[in-house]
Formats: sequence, C-alpha cells, structure tokens
Amino acid sequence: MNHYAHITGWGMSVPEKILTNDDLAKIVDTNDGWIRSRTGIYERRIAGPDQTTASLAIEASLRALSVANLRSDELDLIIVATSSPEYLFPATACLVQDQIGATKAGAFDLSAACTGFIYALNIATQSIRSGTLENVLVIGSETLSRLVNWKDRGTCILFGDGAGAFVLQPGEEPGGLLSAVMRSDGSGGDLLCIPAGGSRFPTSATTVQDGLHFIQMNGSEVFRFASRVMVQATQEVVEAAHLDLDDVNLLIPHQANQRIIESAARGLDISMDRVMVNLDRYGNTSTASIPIATCEAIEQGRLKPGDHVAFVGFGAGLTWGAAVVKWSGPFPSPRKVQPQRYRRLVRLRSIFLRLIRQIEGLIWGRGK
Ligand code: ACO
Repeated sequence: MNHYAHITGWGMSVPEKILTNDDLAKIVDTNDGWIRSRTGIYERRIAGPDQTTASLAIEASLRALSVANLRSDELDLIIVATSSPEYLFPATACLVQDQIGATKAGAFDLSAACTGFIYALNIATQSIRSGTLENVLVIGSETLSRLVNWKDRGTCILFGDGAGAFVLQPGEEPGGLLSAVMRSDGSGGDLLCIPAGGSRFPTSATTVQDGLHFIQMNGSEVFRFASRVMVQATQEVVEAAHLDLDDVNLLIPHQANQRIIESAARGLDISMDRVMVNLDRYGNTSTASIPIATCEAIEQGRLKPGDHVAFVGFGAGLTWGAAVVKWSGPFPSPRKVQPQRYRRLVRLRSIFLRLIRQIEGLIWGRGK
C-alpha cells in the first residue's frame, strides 16, 4: 500500500491555429461583443488536418513524462478522459500507448464529459494508493471542433481543441490528491449530448441530415446546473480534505464560461485573484481545460510545491466533481529522461509490430 499519489509531471499541447470571435462572426450570426460579455471567450484553438485527439494527447504526455523524468516504459496505466475520442473503439488511450512506447501499460478511455479529468485523477490516485499500480498517466484531450455544428451559434462559439496530461507517482511524503468528489445525475443527460453515432441511433443518412451527430445543448439549463454544483462540490471536497477554503491557494475550475466561474467564486466567497482563468484564449476544451489551466498556472508562478489547489468541474451526463491536491512537483533524480528523443524509435516499433502481425497472419493463413 502506498500512502500518497503525487503529481510529478505535467504537460499541455494546443493547436497553433487560432479562431477569433471576429472569425466566427463571418460564419454564424454572432459578434465579438456578445461572445465576450456572455462567455468571456476571445479566441480558441482549432486542430489542423493532421491533428487529432490522440496526437494532441501524445504531445502533452511526452511533455509531462519529461517533467516527471519518467520513461514511458515505466508507466503502468494510461487513462484518457475525452469527450471526442478518435473512435468508439479502440480507446484513444491505446493509440497513445502505442505512440509513446508505453510497453507495460494498460490503457482505457474515461467518458464523463468535462468532469472526466477529475474522475480520472481520482481513479489513478486510488489505484496507486491501493498499491496496485505505481506510475499512471492521466490525460484530458479533445478535438471538439470536429463535433460542433458550425451553423449553431449557441454551441460553436464555446468550444476549442487541446490536451493536458499529468503523471502520478507513489510517495510517502504527504501530498498529491487529498480528497475528491464524483457525482452524476443522468436525468439531465438530454441537456447536453451527441444523440447519434452510438448504438441508440446508429449513423444513418437521416441522422446526418438532422444533424444528430453534432453537440446539442440547452445552454441556460446547463448554466444553472453548473453555477449550483461548482459551489457545492468545492465546499464538499475542501471539507473532506480537512481544510478551510482559506487554505486553498488556487481554485482551478473547468473553463466553460467566465460568468459561471465568477458566480462560483462569489458563492464560495473567494476573490478572483485566487481563481485560474484562461478560457479567454482557449474556450471550453472540456476534459483538457483543467490540466491546461494547471500548466499555465505553474508557468505563471501561481502554483508552487506545497500549495493547495482545488479543481472543480461539470459536464454532460450530467456529471460534476472536485478534487483537492497538495501540489508536489517532480521527484528529485540525477537522471535526465527525454521521451521526445525516442519518438522515431517508438514509431518504428509500432510499424514492426504491425509487420510481425501481418507475417503471422500469412503463416497462420497458409497453415489452415
Ligand atoms: N451570438 C449572438 N446571440 C446569441 C448567440 C451568439 N453566439 N447565442 C445565442 N444568442 C442569442 C439567443 O438567440 C437569445 O436571443 P433571444 O433573446 O432573442 O432569444 C439571446 O442571445 C440569449 O440567449 P441565451 O441562450 O439565453 O444566452 P445565455 O446568456 O444563456 O448564454 C451560453 C448562452 C453562453 C451558451 C450560456 O448559456 C452557457 O455558457 N451555458 C453553459 C454551457 C456550458 O458550459 N456547456 C459546456 C458544458 S461542459 C461539457 O460537458 C462539454
């Protein structure tokens, strides 16, 4: 049994292409003023033709491994929290496993919409604390730009693409995730969903014609739900960690809407200088929003080892959750691991494995 699961590595990756509110105003009936005042978003990143949920996840993961100074073959598990997986199956986590060369890791996707990263962080922590696993990679990655209806001004203005990743490792020193809450209410599932493409409504000419493969959302209902649960979940998780809200150095909320975040801060009586906000530049990147905001908070010197940080999120499902973390940073080590260096080798390994499978198939076929 391990006592704590520390966050020892972090990394993010966002596409280069920026889509501003003015750009959006050229494709739907909206304007910069409306989007800024109702959401706080100024611009978002959009994946290029060669970028996918897995490719962004891979970039973020390699950066996180580099900070943690951990080789990919030392990982025991990869969890990708995503609302825009590459396929229904295989899991995006398996594509990441292959392309980072995590030869000894299990891999699965976690579907809890924007709350997914918090769920994954908790599952990873409990697996480490139970002593079952040692090193776990938790990723939030999205290319939601591929799932929004670019004719629907109620949704297309909100979302953006990107990925963030944490490495978790066991340690005896107090730190890492101290408490978490995970909640759901499926009775609100219809408020935010992609109706078609699953087994309930398999893709057909009719589902495509009706636009049922796009994100559908009741914005004002989601807004009301989010403003309520963000406060409740944060209060609960802070209490579960035996802390007061005053002990929380930084609140990193899911980056969905500036007004939701401000309402949560008011409800918690926390001043906005203790709240991390970067949705103005990225929009809502769903599962990736919390790890991306964390990476930027560290970069800006707003999150340091020893600090208490609270994460809180909500999303489709409906789901919501929160976590309190005592921030750690990488474990000291004399070695210097550079996972990016082995990318070519890892790709060759993947090609080699496919080749072997083909040769085996041929031999097997002949033997029949
Ligand atoms: N540009 C201009 N006008 C618009 C736009 C737009 N992009 N979108 C809507 N409007 C209009 C509406 O048509 C409406 O006009 P009307 O009064 O003439 O009917 C008016 O603006 C107000 O519309 P509302 O929907 O009431 O606007 P609201 O203030 O609620 O803002 C928004 C809409 C931004 C979507 C907000 O409800 C919201 O952020 N909700 C939460 C959504 C969210 O966080 N979703 C992600 C969840 S996480 C996940 O799991 C993916």
